[in-house]
Amino acid sequence: MKPVPPGSTIGIVGGGQLGRMLAMAAARLGYKCHVYAPDEAPPAAEVSAHFTRGAWDDEAALARFGRSIDVATYEFENIAAAPLAALAAEAPLYPPRRSLEIAQDRLEEKGFIQGLGGRPPAFQPVDDLAGLEAALAAIGAPAVLKTRRFGYDGKGQARIADPSGAAEAWAAVRAAPSILEAFVDFEAEFSILLCRGADGRTVIWPVPENRHRQAMLDRSILPAGEAVRRVQAEAEALARRAADALEHVGILALEFFATAEGPLFNEMAPRVHNSGHWTIEGAVTSQFENHVRAICGLPLGDTGLAGSRVEMTNLIGSEAETWPEILADPAAHLHLYGKGETREGRKMGHVTRVWR
Ligand SMILES: Nc1ncnc2c1ncn2[C@@H]1O[C@H](COP(=O)(O)OP(=O)(O)OP(=O)(O)O)[C@@H](O)[C@H]1O
Ligand SMILES: [Mg+2]
Repeated sequence: MKPVPPGSTIGIVGGGQLGRMLAMAAARLGYKCHVYAPDEAPPAAEVSAHFTRGAWDDEAALARFGRSIDVATYEFENIAAAPLAALAAEAPLYPPRRSLEIAQDRLEEKGFIQGLGGRPPAFQPVDDLAGLEAALAAIGAPAVLKTRRFGYDGKGQARIADPSGAAEAWAAVRAAPSILEAFVDFEAEFSILLCRGADGRTVIWPVPENRHRQAMLDRSILPAGEAVRRVQAEAEALARRAADALEHVGILALEFFATAEGPLFNEMAPRVHNSGHWTIEGAVTSQFENHVRAICGLPLGDTGLAGSRVEMTNLIGSEAETWPEILADPAAHLHLYGKGETREGRKMGHVTRVWR
């Protein structure tokens, strides 16, 4: 791949906080960004040189967008294959479409990982209520029903405590094609954040232990605890195999449950990831900068820890209003995403504390 030099324009599909932080990292390296999103004033557009407002499925608009940029990436996963093909016909697109197509379907991604020797929790595809009842009989309760597509921050999921809850759960996912997954009594959760360069060279950051609250990431903590450290080498090896098999370019994030039997694969994302936000101040090179470097064909930066201990906390809904107290803490780096409206359950910002 011929490098896309600083001064060029990077197209970002999606306008949320991930795109915003990508654009800020890109700007620091002298790139301009052009954001494509359906919203009126998305957080990423505020910090980018250009913004096109367009629908996710508008192939003509995506093709036009593609002609106005030098390289394309995405921060949003739920864009269909055909419109993405229209974009990819006009500009090089990284990560590759196959990474996105696999990661946007929970059934596909679990099968893909199994094919590489990884282990997800016990699961079965579910296409109707009878199928859910059969899957519950096979897997047992408690279990989690998840839509195959379009889930994020715990949306599109229903926990099932016992088999009598099948109909209620099926209604909760609106009868969408789903998978039933065994509920894992994990010791801890963690993620492998890797970045694969255009030359195939792969770097991995120190592994964060992730704590969730109501199925949404609350905190990432480094170094991770003993339960994670025991199983992380196996997870890292799997992540490398996944990135190589996909010929991935850019960030790939894999979420795992740490159990006594080893790491269990939960899901993966072919994009910068919430559990990597700590890298902005907590690592020598951030996930955002290395993603930009990878998709532009530049060498990747060092992923080492920048302190002895790092903690990232999401600011959800009104928690962002505590910014005056956060600013008073000398260890704290505050990030606010500039979202106009504070809504309960909405990611409004995050704070990273680094201890030297
Ligand atoms: N099978 C399971 N057993 C136990 N806990 C689970 C299971 N599946 C999900 N969870 C909990 O719910 C969280 C969110 O689940 P998952 O990662 O599948 O959903 P998501 O909507 O894609 O979330 P996000 O976008 O925040 O990563 C997990 O991190 C974990 O805490
Ligand atoms: Mg998740």
